[in-house]
Amino acid sequence: MTTACALVCFILLSVSVLAGSHTLTGLATYIRGESAFSASLMLDDITVGYYDSETKIYFARGNTTNEDDVIDPNIVRTAGANVLNHFQKISHLLKPANETESYEVHQLVTFCEQSDNNLGQITTKTAYQGSTFDELHFFDGKFTYQLFSNYTEPEKIRNLERSKSRLENFYYPACIKMLTNYLKTRETQLNRKVKPLVRLIQKANSDSGRSRLSCLASGFYPRHINLTLFRDGQPVSDHEITGGDLLPNADGTYQMRKSVEISAADKHKYTCSVTHLSLDNTLDFSESKNQPVILSVLIVLALVLVFGTGVVIYIYIRRKRRADSSRSDYSAAPPEEHTETTA
Ligand SMILES: *[C@@H]1O[C@H](CO)[C@@H](O)[C@H](O)[C@H]1NC(C)=O
Ligand SMILES: *[C@@H]1O[C@H](CO)[C@@H](O)[C@H](O)[C@H]1NC(C)=O
Ligand SMILES: *[C@@H]1O[C@H](CO)[C@@H](O)[C@H](O)[C@H]1NC(C)=O
Ligand SMILES: *[C@@H]1O[C@H](CO)[C@@H](O)[C@H](O)[C@H]1NC(C)=O
Repeated sequence: MTTACALVCFILLSVSVLAGSHTLTGLATYIRGESAFSASLMLDDITVGYYDSETKIYFARGNTTNEDDVIDPNIVRTAGANVLNHFQKISHLLKPANETESYEVHQLVTFCEQSDNNLGQITTKTAYQGSTFDELHFFDGKFTYQLFSNYTEPEKIRNLERSKSRLENFYYPACIKMLTNYLKTRETQLNRKVKPLVRLIQKANSDSGRSRLSCLASGFYPRHINLTLFRDGQPVSDHEITGGDLLPNADGTYQMRKSVEISAADKHKYTCSVTHLSLDNTLDFSESKNQPVILSVLIVLALVLVFGTGVVIYIYIRRKRRADSSRSDYSAAPPEEHTETTA
C-alpha cells in the first residue's frame, strides 16, 4: 500500500505543469534483479506511448496518424540502453534495505518543458522505493543537481560529468524535439474539451440519522475544474467538505466529488456550482431534499437556458458527439459509464 502510494506520489510530485506550458515525460520503472525495464511516455497527462526494453520496441498509443517521424528510433535505442545501465548500476550500489521486502522498485522520470514565454528545461529524477534519490536539472544553459545517493567522491564527480553532458547534449535536444513533434500531431487531443456530467446526490445513513450530500462531476477534460458546494447561497466552509481529489478515469477524463455531512433535519438549501473550460457559463445545480433525484435533467434544462435556441443546441449536440467520439478513440479501456441525457 505504502509503496504503491509512494510510487504514484513520486510521479505526481515530480511533474507540475505550469499553465500555458507543455511537458513531455518519460517514466521508467525497474524491479531489482530483472533484466529489462518498462517505460511510458506522456504528453502533459496523455500517455502517447510505451517502451519495453526487453523487445526494444516503442508502441505509440492512441491516434497515431502522422506519427511516423515523431520518435527517432536511434534516440530510443540509445536512451533505452543508458537507462537500463543506470538502473543496474544503482541497484548494484544500493544494498537491499530490507531482505524480506518482496520487490524493490527503481524509477527514473525525465521531463522537459516548453512554454510560450520561457526557455525550455529538462529535469531528471531517480527514485528508489518511491523516494527521490538523485535529481538533475538543466535550465537556461545552467545545470543544477541534488544528489541523495551514497556515491564516493570520485564516483560522484565521474557520474556528474557524464550525466551533465548527456542531459545537455543528448536528452535535452531530443526531448524538446519530440515534444515539439507531439504538440503538432496530438494538438486535437490536447485541446479537446469534454463537459462534466454533474450530479448532486444525497445518501442517507439510517444508523446515524445523518446523510451525506455529494456533488459529483465526472468525465471532464482538461482536468482543471472548480467545484463549489453552497448552503443557502454561501460556500460551505472547507473544513466541512470531504473529498475534492481529482481522480483519473480510464478513458483519460477526470472526475471529482465533494461531500458534506448534514443532519436529517437540515432545512438549508444546498446547491453545487461548476466552472470548467468546456462550459460557457457556470453550471448551478440544486437538489430537492426529500427526493434525491439524479439531476442530469437539470443539466439539460440549464443548457437550454444557456444556449436558448435550437440552432445552438444543435451545435452543442455536434460538439458532444465529437467529444464522445474522441473520448472513445483514445481509450484503451471501456469508457466509464455515463448516464446520457441527450439524444
Ligand atoms: C547511505 O549511507 C548512510 C551512511 O553512510 C547509510 O546509513 C545508508 O544506509 C546508505 N544508504 C543507502 C541507500 O545505501
Ligand atoms: C521488512 O519488511 C517486512 C515486510 O514488509 C516487515 O514486516 C519488517 O518489519 C521489515 N523489517 C525491517 C527491519 O524494516
Ligand atoms: C487522427 O489525427 C489526425 C491528425 O493527426 C486527424 O486528422 C484525424 O482526424 C484523427 N483521427 C481520429 C479518428 O480522430
Ligand atoms: C477556478 O477559480 C480560480 C479562482 O477564482 C480561477 O483563477 C480559475 O480560472 C478557475 N478555473 C476554472 C477551470 O474555471
